[in-house]
Amino acid sequence: MSEPIQSVRGMNDLLPPDSAKWGFFERRCRELFERHGYEEIRTPVLEHTSLFARGIGEATDIVEKEMYTFSDRKGRSLTMRPEMTASCVRAYIEHGIAKREPVTRWYYAGPMFRYERMQTGRYRQFYQIGVECFGVAEPTVEAEQIAMLVQLYGDLRVPSLPVQVNSIGGAADRPRYRAALVAYLEPHATELCGDCQRRMATNPLRVLDCKVDAGSPVLAGAPRVLDHLTEASRARFDAACATLTELGIQFQIDPRLVRGFDYYTGLVFEIQSDAPALGTQCALVGGGRYDELVESMGGPATPAVGFALGVERGILALPGGAKDFVPRPDLFIATLGEAARRHALVIAQRLRGAGLRVEVEHRPVGLKAQLKRADNLDAASSLVLGDVELASGRAKLRDMGTRAEREVALSALESELARR
Ligand code: HAM
Repeated sequence: MSEPIQSVRGMNDLLPPDSAKWGFFERRCRELFERHGYEEIRTPVLEHTSLFARGIGEATDIVEKEMYTFSDRKGRSLTMRPEMTASCVRAYIEHGIAKREPVTRWYYAGPMFRYERMQTGRYRQFYQIGVECFGVAEPTVEAEQIAMLVQLYGDLRVPSLPVQVNSIGGAADRPRYRAALVAYLEPHATELCGDCQRRMATNPLRVLDCKVDAGSPVLAGAPRVLDHLTEASRARFDAACATLTELGIQFQIDPRLVRGFDYYTGLVFEIQSDAPALGTQCALVGGGRYDELVESMGGPATPAVGFALGVERGILALPGGAKDFVPRPDLFIATLGEAARRHALVIAQRLRGAGLRVEVEHRPVGLKAQLKRADNLDAASSLVLGDVELASGRAKLRDMGTRAEREVALSALESELARR
């Protein structure tokens, strides 16, 4: 016998009943985002590698170490998307969306791929749900997005910590800050990892979110972007914070929050959870403003802001066992004999057409086994259909909770079930 083939490490199957909990979580996200005016976008999983190299940044951990990149049959370099912002920006430019509408609000849900070291809540294929808003420069829009997230986790009772916010400034702020950071880091160069020594020259901001040097006293003492913002950037950040306060959102300013992408320009934020199921404290959501990305990728100058949440992490932190999310059948029809089995299908088709959830036993097994299955499926009611019931057009409808039985006309099942 040959060895069974296993799934790829870090890429998981999603099976029932877990898929029911996922479905619930995803539906709640979609409903909430749509109530805020976001419309769904779907883009391909594969993109040209250059999209992420340019969009996310050559010196980021994701682009340097974590992408699934390969050549196709014609030797073109393709990458399985590690995130969606770059793909949304590509689509926004490619379809000339800016010419069609002044404000664009998109949401997406789907798998992302990063070759990361695995732990609880960190996988190589993982799912994100996120939003991107193009065309609004006013800082109220990031406050609205954050409020939407806080509402989401509140409604779902996902325990989350106060929102962490920071501003990392844009093109106008960078030169000053970069100079201050490099001047500080240079004397400490030998205390940093090899990658960071290199990044000091190419992209010093990335030193601040290096996973190897995380926790190093050198990084803890580094100058903070917030102290080097231009007046205009500081005012924008303060305005966003003031809106959050007005909305009653609990947040903390974390001057060390930098996020691992080059595209951010202003306010950035994360929401973390310390739910025990996640093991260590970890990020449920990350996002921020990226006002320069669309133009730098060849589109018209367009302010933009967005976030993505990790679905696996949301599910791990969401209270309730997976089984609690599985919808139970309204009716289980047990069948005795072939004629009854066939007629059960006719009844089931009618009831399903009326919106009821009906399960029919197709296997010729004993009644006891059939009713046991009805119990296992947690059906609300059951019905036994045999030759006698077919002839009389009446059958006993059993409430599976109380075990009480009532004889009912098969033609009146809809109203009987609706009464329960
Ligand atoms: P990100 O912080 O890299 O941001 O990812 C967002 C969320 O995806 C994280 O907070 C986490 O919940 C989840 N996540 C990330 N990596 C993994 C992993 N390996 N396994 C499981 N979950 C993971 C972005 O991707 C940005 N594109 C967000 C954004 C949208 N910024 C602006 N617009």
